[in-house]
Amino acid sequence: MDGPGMDVVDEAGAKAPQDRLAAWLAEDMAAVNLLIRERMASRHAPRIPEVTAHLVEAGGKRLRPMLTLAAARMLGYAGKDHLKLAATVEFIHTATLLHDDVVDESQRRRGRPTANLLWDNKSSVLVGDYLFSRSFQLMVETGNLRVLDILANASATIAEGEVLQLTAAQDLRTDEQVYLQIVRGKTAALFSAATEVGGVIADAPEDQVRALFDYGDALGIAFQIVDDILDYGGTAATIGKNTGDDFRERKLTLPVIHAVARATPEERAFWVRVIEKGDQQDGDLERAMAILAEHGAIEHARDTAMAWAGRAREALCHLPESELRLLLSQLADYVVERVS
Ligand code: IPE
Ligand code: IPE
Ligand code: MG
Ligand code: MG
Repeated sequence: MDGPGMDVVDEAGAKAPQDRLAAWLAEDMAAVNLLIRERMASRHAPRIPEVTAHLVEAGGKRLRPMLTLAAARMLGYAGKDHLKLAATVEFIHTATLLHDDVVDESQRRRGRPTANLLWDNKSSVLVGDYLFSRSFQLMVETGNLRVLDILANASATIAEGEVLQLTAAQDLRTDEQVYLQIVRGKTAALFSAATEVGGVIADAPEDQVRALFDYGDALGIAFQIVDDILDYGGTAATIGKNTGDDFRERKLTLPVIHAVARATPEERAFWVRVIEKGDQQDGDLERAMAILAEHGAIEHARDTAMAWAGRAREALCHLPESELRLLLSQLADYVVERVS
């Protein structure tokens, strides 16, 4: 079989779950992509389409809009508003990426130089604001107050997660509980909103809407834990971002939290120097990776991600059986196995 998480066909001829989901939702997704293209432009400020086209044309996995489409379709929705909601979700995501790369001083995203590197921080912040505003316009067009509530809350929660991370970074006292709070905010909030609004627009019963929320929440947590693993163990070519960004930004991600809790006095002195004091030298990232390996920190993080993926799959039991439900269940495994 091909390597886990590869976007390829395995020996049984089966594609990776996210590809099968994309194939299932191809028509809807094409409409969403059209909507994204239409709404990301601006006739009044040429810098806006320059920056948005740079990021949007680079692709991205489009995982979040697929979740909205899948949730709505799974519950029998036959209207068109799910397309607007899916585009809203991807706009919120893209806006947070523009802002996040400024905050993290990142230089690569989706296999390209970041907007902050190609243009500047000012453009990234302002175009991010523009995309946020466009996302609000789009969701208002659905006229559904409940989805507005869910997506507005998610946007606030994402910002809270990012700010909480800012204050927890460089602090070796940050523990798994705080980490979970950060990850739930900055990443899972949009996953759970994406699935929840799909159920709400389909007018699904409350227990099913709740199950969709729980699925998105657990999937998002698993997804971010794996993102944090890939920052140490991945390769820039596959993740489309530079590795080592979290170390350089002195973030206490799950593997580091695990290793810090088990550090020998010598290792602790290392973490104090590189994370708390920010005194990083050549070879420190490699040393950090060796310490993580020593304590099985990556395995621990992967086990934790697998447990969250399991919870995501369990949440699906409350939803009617269907092919889409099976694909969403398999997506939970993919999220843990992915390399890109
Ligand atoms: C990146 O999300 C931000 C995180 C939550 C880790 P994705 O990995 O889904 O980004 P794209 O949209 O595919 O580029
Ligand atoms: C992802 O944060 C969450 C948001 C973008 C809000 P990260 O900083 O961990 O993600 P990457 O690694 O830059 O994609
Ligand atoms: Mg970042
Ligand atoms: Mg960040």
